Amino acid sequence: MITMPATLRTARLHLRAPCAEDAPGVLAYVGDARAMRYMVWPMAETIEDVYNLLDDMAWGWHDGDDFAYAITATHEQALVGMISCQFSDDGAELGFILHPDHWGRGLAREAGAAVMAAACEIDDLYRIWACCDVDNTASMRVLEHLGMQREGVLRRRSKRPNLSAADEPRDDAVFAWVR
Ligand SMILES: CC(C)(COP(=O)(O)OP(=O)(O)OC[C@H]1O[C@@H](n2cnc3c(N)ncnc32)[C@H](O)[C@@H]1OP(=O)(O)O)[C@@H](O)C(=O)NCCC(=O)NCCS
Repeated sequence: MITMPATLRTARLHLRAPCAEDAPGVLAYVGDARAMRYMVWPMAETIEDVYNLLDDMAWGWHDGDDFAYAITATHEQALVGMISCQFSDDGAELGFILHPDHWGRGLAREAGAAVMAAACEIDDLYRIWACCDVDNTASMRVLEHLGMQREGVLRRRSKRPNLSAADEPRDDAVFAWVR
C-alpha cells in the first residue's frame, strides 16, 4: 500500500483530501461544459452524482492506490479544482481539472509540481505519466511544464462523452516523466 501526504502546500495553493462539504464546489466544474469538454466521464447533473464521485475518491485514499486532492487557494475556502495521482503497475498517473474561473494562472502546473514532488519520494516509482485528448492544448502545455515528455499517441483509445461523436474513441497523447 502506498501513502501520499494528506496535505500539500505551494506558494498559492492548499491541497487536501476531498470531503463531503466540497460537493457544491465540485458540481460547479463537473457540471460545466467548458471544464468537462475533454474528460472521459460525462458531465454530472446532480449533487448525488458528485457524492458518488467523492465516495470513489475516499476509497482511493482508503485503498492507498488513488489519491485525489481538492485544490483550494491559500487563505480561501473556495474550491479551485482537483488533481489526482493514481498508482498502478504502469507508475503514477496524474489527472487534473480546474474550474474555468481559475484557468490561465498556472495553477494546474503548480499543483502538479507539488504532487509529482510528493510521488517522487516513493523510492521505487520510476514513471509519472498522464494522457489527454490530442486536441487538449492547455493540458498538454501543463504536462510539458511539469517536465514530462510526449511519448506518442494512443490512437482511438478514449471516448469523450462530452464531445460530439461521443461514441467514437479519439486519440490520446501520452506524456511521462521517468526517473
Ligand atoms: C488543463 C487545465 C487544468 C489547465 O489549467 P491552467 O491552470 O489553466 O493551466 P495554465 O495556466 O498552466 O495554462 C496552460 C497552458 O495552456 C494554454 N492554454 C490555456 N487554455 C488554452 C486553450 N484553450 N487553447 C490553447 N492553449 C491554452 C495557456 O496559455 C498555457 O500555455 P503557456 O504555458 O504556453 O503559457 C485546465 O484548462 C482545465 O481544467 N481544463 C479542463 C479539464 C481538463 O481538460 N483536464 C485535463 C485532463 S487530462
